[in-house]
Amino acid sequence: MRNSKAAVFVAWLLAAASGSLIGTARAGDAAPHLVQTLCQNCHGLDGVAVLPGAANLSGQQKEYLVEQLRAFRSGKRQNPQMSVIAKPLTDDDIENLALWYSSIKIRVETPK
Ligand code: HEC
Repeated sequence: MRNSKAAVFVAWLLAAASGSLIGTARAGDAAPHLVQTLCQNCHGLDGVAVLPGAANLSGQQKEYLVEQLRAFRSGKRQNPQMSVIAKPLTDDDIENLALWYSSIKIRVETPK
């Protein structure tokens, strides 16, 4: 029993490492699963950063989010955390993540 559990875990790790678990979304799919597993701890599900130093993403321009994620993935933009996170993302993942965070409605108030 112990061994089969370990085998399942190793298989899961290998699948995750090869990107087959996190890279399965197609364009247009909602992103919450990816957001929950990969982004929420630092950027929040609602895009309000919970880690000091991480950016607020809610309501950000979709084009901007796509561009930054691609830049982290390619190495053009570097950050110890984001470079690792973005590396295995597919183009569809990036589209879906950008769609999620850009679709969150925000209200702004300028300082009085
Ligand atoms: C371990 C914490 C952590 C996780 C997890 C994380 N991020 Fe980040 N993210 C950061 C930090 C820190 C920055 C600021 C990077 C910098 O200073 O260049 C950042 C920056 C970004 C930016 C650039 C924002 C801007 O205004 O330029 C985007 C877009 C982004 N993250 C998206 C995501 C997405 C999508 C995920 C999930 C796939 C994710 N991040 C997961 C910590 C994290």
